[in-house]
Amino acid sequence: MMFFKFPQPGLLQYSFLLLLNACLIQALVYTNPNLIKPEYDFVIVGAGAAGNVMANRLTESGKFNVLLIEAGPSNQGLLPSIVPFLAPSIQAIPYAIWNYTTIPQPALDNRTLAYVRGKLLGGSSSINFLTFTRGSDDDFDRWARLTEEPEWSWKNLRQYYLKSEKLVPPADAHDTTHQCNPSFHGNGPIEVSVPTFATDIDGRVISASKELGEEFKFNLDVQSGDMVGISVAQSTIGSTSKRSSSATGYLNSIFQRKNLDILIQTQVTKLLPSNSNSKIPSFQTVQFAQNSTGKIYHTHAKKEVILSAGAINTPQILMLSGIGDRAALTKKGIKPLVDLPDVGQHLQDHPLLLNYFRVNTKNTFDTILRDPHATVNALNQWNTTGEGQFADSLTNSIGFIRLDNSFWNGKVDPSAGPKSGHFEMIFIDGFAALETPAPNTGNFITVNTAVLNPLSRGSVTLASVDPFVFPVIDPGFFTAPLDVSTMVEAVKAVRKFFTASIWNGYVTSRFGTMGDASTDAEIASAARQSVVTIWHPASTAMMSPEHAKWGVVTPKLLVKGTSGLRIVDTSIFPIIPAAHTVGPVYIVAERAADFVKEKWC
Ligand SMILES: Cc1cc2nc3c(=O)[nH]c(=O)nc-3n(C[C@H](O)[C@H](O)[C@H](O)COP(=O)(O)OP(=O)(O)OC[C@H]3O[C@@H](n4cnc5c(N)ncnc54)[C@H](O)[C@@H]3O)c2cc1C
Ligand SMILES: *[C@@H]1O[C@H](CO)[C@@H](O)[C@H](O)[C@H]1NC(C)=O
Ligand SMILES: *[C@@H]1O[C@H](CO)[C@@H](O)[C@H](O)[C@H]1NC(C)=O
Ligand SMILES: *[C@@H]1O[C@H](CO)[C@@H](O)[C@H](O)[C@H]1NC(C)=O
Ligand SMILES: *[C@@H]1O[C@H](CO)[C@@H](O)[C@H](O)[C@H]1NC(C)=O
Repeated sequence: MMFFKFPQPGLLQYSFLLLLNACLIQALVYTNPNLIKPEYDFVIVGAGAAGNVMANRLTESGKFNVLLIEAGPSNQGLLPSIVPFLAPSIQAIPYAIWNYTTIPQPALDNRTLAYVRGKLLGGSSSINFLTFTRGSDDDFDRWARLTEEPEWSWKNLRQYYLKSEKLVPPADAHDTTHQCNPSFHGNGPIEVSVPTFATDIDGRVISASKELGEEFKFNLDVQSGDMVGISVAQSTIGSTSKRSSSATGYLNSIFQRKNLDILIQTQVTKLLPSNSNSKIPSFQTVQFAQNSTGKIYHTHAKKEVILSAGAINTPQILMLSGIGDRAALTKKGIKPLVDLPDVGQHLQDHPLLLNYFRVNTKNTFDTILRDPHATVNALNQWNTTGEGQFADSLTNSIGFIRLDNSFWNGKVDPSAGPKSGHFEMIFIDGFAALETPAPNTGNFITVNTAVLNPLSRGSVTLASVDPFVFPVIDPGFFTAPLDVSTMVEAVKAVRKFFTASIWNGYVTSRFGTMGDASTDAEIASAARQSVVTIWHPASTAMMSPEHAKWGVVTPKLLVKGTSGLRIVDTSIFPIIPAAHTVGPVYIVAERAADFVKEKWC
């Protein structure tokens, strides 16, 4: 269950309604499926993080005409999607999210977890918590090994990560020399910046890192390929303190392109095979509808259909189209057309735990969020100056930490290499009420810990043949015991971090169920009671070597056993990187756009 008590929805409702009224849908964004042409070169399903990159890159030469179909509405004017600090509040807006819930998680005391995805232009990049990480060189070199495709190595992806993002100055234009290294950054449409509004803990986190030495060493720029250490967080926030998403970065500038049609508020319900004589079925006819009882429409992709519906919806669409495990599809009454047992399998995600601490100060965002005047002031300050509490994401510092060799004695280290963390620490200067409602009094800091190389695997399966019925989502959190032990070590590491002298008299006590836990067994048990998702589902249509029988797509992202069908989104990750996933998915999409051009130009 989510408790997004911050900021008070009642207060904000007024302001985002105001903005919604002023919202202008661009002329070339259609809501009426009757206006869609019978044929395009490419049809892209899902205008999310990856889909918008594809729409942009495939229309830039003018040689191809493209249709982009999005289930949700426009992102324009939606205040919580613009103001960085308000990101959590989007989850209270029913029409902007896929309000998914997992099935009971046996290793989490049978709890079900909220499992929201973005349903609007920009997809989850329009609702995410803005932390930007590219992944480590080890992560991508492992992708290259797993897929036997050197194009996926860090070295060969360089032009693509540089093409996707650029470092911009924070709103206050302060000197960032000691916070990031511009030489690791590129010149792409996604704007990335370090925080503009310093919180009380930022300097303390860096001092503690210096005091405690190697285990928590300082890392100037997490995008260098080496992610290990404590860093100043980089967020997808532009220099006017507005969210930078795939919609603002890749789509806003191309609405006027004549060779691009965008259809919103319309869901792709399945792909139809063509009646060709070829032994390899092609899935180039796209079926879509606006609701379960509405009219059914079709269009045809002359060259390719590109599925970018995300790690939950892409496998759902594949299965609805008869692509998946033969036996499972038959059982559901769907005629299996392509037998790919890995569709919907191998779901990976980073389990997230919130560690709360009481602090001896009034200067955390708890004070602001409890006071309606202060909240409105913070919003006004953001609006007039791009400054203040609401100008940044929830976090100004992050750490990717490795566990000591002694921990791995007799175990297989699941990390991709020495430049990938085993767990993450995310520092938040207030009570992040993701799992527990915020207390009415007191001031807090939250340190989120995440297991970065989970061994647990889950799945996405069909609940129904009705495309408007949500699929069954099982992230399988903590089903691998090593994930639990790694989380226990992460919790202990956070506690150790607070033994640095800078926290003396500042952090006064641990708080909550996890705060009460002391022994490893108690920490593990408290973790089962409180772990949630960090919203990084991946690998449900995983990439494998060209000739491998397992996996769903080839290293060029074409769906095995089909023609004219490619997948470009987080579902193709061969394994989840030890990083936040939006950076990697932008890289995947930039790389994929060139695969497509190499084939069709
Ligand atoms: C709450 C939240 C917080 C997060 N925080 C972070 C963070 O801080 N940092 C980070 O790096 N990552 C974060 N992530 C994850 C990151 O945003 C995702 O990994 C990334 O956006 C995935 O990209 P994608 O292209 O695979 O899918 P998405 O961006 O989810 O896009 C999929 C799109 O397809 C559309 N779609 C789905 N089905 C259909 C259909 N049948 N027909 C038409 N359209 C369809 C969806 O509506 C959506 O717009 C977060 C995610 C969430 C939800
Ligand atoms: C999402 O689903 C949960 C659980 O069913 C529900 O409590 C919540 O109100 C829903 N949120 C929205 C925005 O509809
Ligand atoms: C979880 O549910 C299963 C099936 O209903 C049950 O067997 C098991 O005991 C439950 N576990 C916990 C910890 O409640
Ligand atoms: C369903 O979609 C159709 C368009 O195909 C629309 O006319 C109708 O109003 C929609 N119904 C609902 C309940 O939204
Ligand atoms: C931002 O400022 C403008 C100009 O003063 C005003 O019209 C708008 O309503 C403000 N928006 C918010 C969210 O406060």
